[in-house]
Amino acid sequence: MAVLDQLTSQQAIDLENKYGAHNYHPLPVVLHRGEGVYVWDVEGKKYYDFLSAYSAVNQGHCHPKIVDAMTKQSQTLTLTSRAFYNDMLGKFEKKVTSVFGFDKFLPMNTGAEAVETALKVCRKWAYEVKGIPENEAQIIVCENNFHGRTTTIISFSNDPVARANFGPYTNGFLKIEYNNLQALETTLASTKNIAGFLVEPIQGEAGVYVPSENYLAKATELCEKHNVLFIADEVQTGVARTGKMLAVDHENVKPDILVLGKALSGGAYPVSGILANDPIMGVIRPGNHGSTYGGNPVAAAVGIAALEVVEEEKLAENAETLGQVFRDKLNQFIPTCNIVTAVRGKGLLNAILINDTEDSSTAWDICMAMKENGLLAKPTHGNIIRFAPPLVMNKEQLLDCISIITKTLKQFEK
Ligand SMILES: Cc1ncc(COP(=O)(O)O)c(C=O)c1O
Repeated sequence: MAVLDQLTSQQAIDLENKYGAHNYHPLPVVLHRGEGVYVWDVEGKKYYDFLSAYSAVNQGHCHPKIVDAMTKQSQTLTLTSRAFYNDMLGKFEKKVTSVFGFDKFLPMNTGAEAVETALKVCRKWAYEVKGIPENEAQIIVCENNFHGRTTTIISFSNDPVARANFGPYTNGFLKIEYNNLQALETTLASTKNIAGFLVEPIQGEAGVYVPSENYLAKATELCEKHNVLFIADEVQTGVARTGKMLAVDHENVKPDILVLGKALSGGAYPVSGILANDPIMGVIRPGNHGSTYGGNPVAAAVGIAALEVVEEEKLAENAETLGQVFRDKLNQFIPTCNIVTAVRGKGLLNAILINDTEDSSTAWDICMAMKENGLLAKPTHGNIIRFAPPLVMNKEQLLDCISIITKTLKQFEK
């Protein structure tokens, strides 16, 4: 079989099942093409994408400006490694630091790598600037976090599926309840050698948990008071998803280290990285950290185009407006049904809670039915369904999607 022969959905699924590791449990839909808010399966059926590759495709599928930048750069120079300079990386670093307001950027590829980078920089800062004794640095993290799946990151996860049988685990992390300032304050006051506090401004994977108002601002104040770095993991919430460029912008918070990934490339190419100011990023010197592909010319060209699209098309503003419409409409629907108990979120990162037990298959069954009705979404955990469409959606399309969602939910009325 030639690689590019057109397969049926079933053939594609069979191939993955036979030759691929079973590390995902996808919905049985095989996608072949994408454009803006739409994707098409191999049989030609069209769907609204309501997941956006976990918020990587904020700028919409195959955005022409991003694809054009990627194509032109791919025909010019793709990879030099950082053994030499390339003429694109500096331009990207200038763009990303000016958009987010930091002195320096350190480029990587995936979200998990960027989180690892933040942890390393935080530890090095703790020893070289704060003066914590060697190997004693502790980083505070939150329960039910999701920061990726490397061995260090799963060491402080409490998801048994991601964690079990991957030990021994990395030391140096303290877990506290999310959205609990008292727990943060007590831990900061009672524990020696704390270097940083790593937090998602909204816990996306856990089920789109939005913390109480001012949680992030107050947490930043506490970190400042104890000379501890506030590290915001905005891999999922960043780049306009929640109605502002960053989710921390809702509370006017400036993290000490900002972690970005996913939509930094508009879903076209793996691009991630961290941002920090000189007193923190200055601890990194040649040889301390790196990646062969991190900061390659294609990534740089794609990253610049992806940020320009967000600005030019005012995607944060659109996410803010449409997110409000989405939650208003669902809040009108919820009292008329008994299958959904709540909708929550910010901008176009939202979730609904299905009225069934966490171990039931109802949320999955609803996603299967939505697929039949032309909309793709997936449960996060148990009975929670996340809704995160591309931010290039317009109001008419959103209203169409809301009617697909509510029509499908009605099929599940008890
Ligand atoms: C908040 C957060 N951090 C990190 C990651 C890991 O990103 P990646 O899958 O690109 O490694 C994710 C992925 O969903 C995420 O949501």
